[in-house]
Amino acid sequence: MIWTVFLLVQAVLLYFILTHRSRSKTDPPLDKGVIPWLGHALEFGKDASKFLNRMKLKHGDIFTVRAAGRYVTVLLDPHSYDTVINDSDSLDFTRYAQVLMERIFNLRLPHDQPAKAKAMMIKHFRGANFGALNGTMIRHLRALLKAEMPLNQKDWKDEGLFNLSYSLLFKAGYLTLFGGEQNNNSTDPSRVYEEYKKFDSLLTKLARGTLKPEEKRTAQSVRQRLWELLAPAGLTEDSGSSPWLHAYRRLLQEEGVDEEMQRKAVLMQLWATQGNVGPAAFWLLGFLLTHPEALTVVKTEMETSETLLLDRHVDTPVFDSALEEALRLTAAPFITREVVQEKTLHMADGQEYLLRKGDRVCLFPFNSPQMDPEIHQEPQKFKYDRFLNKDGSAKRDFYKGGRRLKYYTMPWGAGTNGCVGKQFAINTIRQFVYMVLTDYDLELCDPDAQMPEVDAGRYGFGMLQPQGDLLVRYKPRKRL
Ligand code: HEM
Repeated sequence: MIWTVFLLVQAVLLYFILTHRSRSKTDPPLDKGVIPWLGHALEFGKDASKFLNRMKLKHGDIFTVRAAGRYVTVLLDPHSYDTVINDSDSLDFTRYAQVLMERIFNLRLPHDQPAKAKAMMIKHFRGANFGALNGTMIRHLRALLKAEMPLNQKDWKDEGLFNLSYSLLFKAGYLTLFGGEQNNNSTDPSRVYEEYKKFDSLLTKLARGTLKPEEKRTAQSVRQRLWELLAPAGLTEDSGSSPWLHAYRRLLQEEGVDEEMQRKAVLMQLWATQGNVGPAAFWLLGFLLTHPEALTVVKTEMETSETLLLDRHVDTPVFDSALEEALRLTAAPFITREVVQEKTLHMADGQEYLLRKGDRVCLFPFNSPQMDPEIHQEPQKFKYDRFLNKDGSAKRDFYKGGRRLKYYTMPWGAGTNGCVGKQFAINTIRQFVYMVLTDYDLELCDPDAQMPEVDAGRYGFGMLQPQGDLLVRYKPRKRL
């Protein structure tokens, strides 16, 4: 017994000696928190925006915190972001992405596979196929909207705007990229959406590894069902999937990835392509409905460029500004990199800090630049024309500390790892908003309703989601 206690004490002591860390002169301010190993993990996970604001007040624009045994250096000065974004030699994107892939999707792919898959995606989402992809997406959106609300319908239909936006865009995106026509022997998009929603609600806990035993079982069975539902996607010519998914499947096969791992990879792609668009459309429509002046201006612009909207090159500066503003308020990804070799980080103010190998670096553009009161006046408010100049052109000059900013909002990330689907996503949201606002009467059930609060546990995971929903009612417009 005495020996057991002795050995245990020795092990604990050894652990603390090996993991002890103190700040050296060259390090950013270090804040380990009071709980050994765990550090600040709980506060970080509960509301990252609030926690990082508290740390910024205490330490300034750069600091290192301990969270669940890892040391994460957080940088909150947008003038200095390029030193992180542009250095892919010392700061690696893939390693942390692979950790998340394994935790969330139980997915392990050959080391160089993500780079090849990304090159292929760029070809399909930005190249010559873009027009065809958009056309298919619009066709599905229109059909789904009509099925939801036939055009001869006379009565109002009540619904939660988040549910309406997310389900329609998810199903249209699924049919465009993964599924094909419903009568073509492929999976019903509504079933996929229902399962996906359950998966989505556990996503942040999966990523943090904080699922309770019961939730673990649910996550496992939901993933299992999704893997089965997605099994045929992209495999056969008559599965109705997009050329991109066929090419992706072929790539996985050529790399020797087995059938089971392929399904897991397809679920990851479902998340990457569908997880953010619906929530983004919700926030934009919600802000417009709760700001009638903005709604009128956006509607007028859409009605005047009506016939041109199928063309992605048509100018819609008011819509673009309103979308940019909605994303400024609700896009909150962490931009995380792993330090693979020691690096001196040169801050824009002339300070220098050493980043240690094995640590992570994290930018959180939501806190700055997006919600920084020095850059955006009254940052909590939705101002549809924040990104418009007086002459109606796009406004791109914003300042901090008297210097013009390169990054004044960053919903799509930046640099080589910025969003591949940005243009497709913008076009999709624009089409959806256009259809809903021009073919339907859409209004708040309660004219005084306010936007719901955000789910603070989702900071760091792309688009935020609301707590609860915003009740709206809609019916086809009379002119139809
Ligand atoms: C409103 C919708 C969307 C938002 C806000 C969004 C946001 C982002 C952000 C912030 C990143 C960078 C992550 C980082 O640097 O760590 C990213 C990456 C990525 N996005 Fe999106 N995204 C959206 C829609 C889409 C769509 C529709 C697609 C596909 C068609 C897509 C495909 C990707 C891919 C493949 C990457 C990874 C790039 C890489 O590996 O370097 N996204 N997205």
